Amino acid sequence: MPRQNDLAKTAYDSLPPQAFSLLLAWYRAHKRAMPWREDPTPYHVWISEIMLQQTRIEAVLPYYERFLAAFPTVQSLAEAEEDRVLKAWEGLGYYSRARNLKKAAKEIVQTYGGTLPDSAAQLRKLPGIGDYTAGAIASIAYGKSEPAVDGNVLRVFTRLTACKDDIMQPATRRAVTESLRSIYPTGRDAGDLTQGIMELGETVCLPNALPRCAECPLASLCLAYRENAVLQYPVKSPKKERRVLQKTVFLLSESGRFALRKRQEKGLLAGLWELPNTEGRLSPEEAAAFLQKEGLRVLSIAPCGEAKHIFTHVEWQMIGYRVECAAPQNGFLWKTAAEIAEGYAIPTAFAFYKKRLTE
Ligand code: ADE
Repeated sequence: MPRQNDLAKTAYDSLPPQAFSLLLAWYRAHKRAMPWREDPTPYHVWISEIMLQQTRIEAVLPYYERFLAAFPTVQSLAEAEEDRVLKAWEGLGYYSRARNLKKAAKEIVQTYGGTLPDSAAQLRKLPGIGDYTAGAIASIAYGKSEPAVDGNVLRVFTRLTACKDDIMQPATRRAVTESLRSIYPTGRDAGDLTQGIMELGETVCLPNALPRCAECPLASLCLAYRENAVLQYPVKSPKKERRVLQKTVFLLSESGRFALRKRQEKGLLAGLWELPNTEGRLSPEEAAAFLQKEGLRVLSIAPCGEAKHIFTHVEWQMIGYRVECAAPQNGFLWKTAAEIAEGYAIPTAFAFYKKRLTE
């Protein structure tokens, strides 16, 4: 594992000075229209950046509009019921991001009178705001000289400077951040540069076999391009393999209502509503026996399909059963499909089975 001192120092010093001005001109001519770009208040930038972590831009757009319609200000988010915030987040995944938004909103109201602070150091102290988000808000909304380094920026930077350090190492990210910070502009240029590097990474300097170097405003400066070795960058150590978990999911119904259950308060999808499920891939007979043992009176059981969901560190491979029950068992919440759709955020991992509630 490389230590900070072992990093290829020269690569971090080799960013050509004209790269920023070329990139700014390109960004201003090519930037895609996005709702948070029309009115980049600190609140708008914050919400959009949290949503954009691990979620594609096209998928974020409808969520962004809906979220801001429901919670137009920091104050309204601070005062909202957590369940409403989770419902507005349903489908985006990583629900801790939504919980942290609400927690941070409360803190912003209490400590800063409802306006996000403008320094990256203060922003970083708020729940759910790390180096990347703090840099994005500080530069885009406040014009501070702060870079925001995500995977796109690491790819653009390591190609441009032919830097062979492993971008999975935190030391590489820190070194890239420091290198950019030392020469970052202020004012509108800061925000446009933050978004311009990301935009280049998302539309031109694409990963794998897809980069569009012929369209790149920085091609003439790019050391990887000069070496004809763009695909050699970024250097990225392989991720740990995901654990695979088998699960059996139950659509338990009784008189047109379905059973929901609250997940435990710790761990994956903590405290969210879910369809009842158990570990292991059970046959229909095993599933019926399991439910009877749990005290449910099973009238009928029928398979309703297999599904897979991939989390960061775990993969669920699921088999599902529709189960008619004779009575609503205690310990579950029994709701109609319409009530569930209206008021309960069910994690996307269960989307395949949730859809079947209305079939
Ligand atoms: N990806 C994440 N945040 C972004 C932004 N502000 N502009 C472009 N792409 C992004």
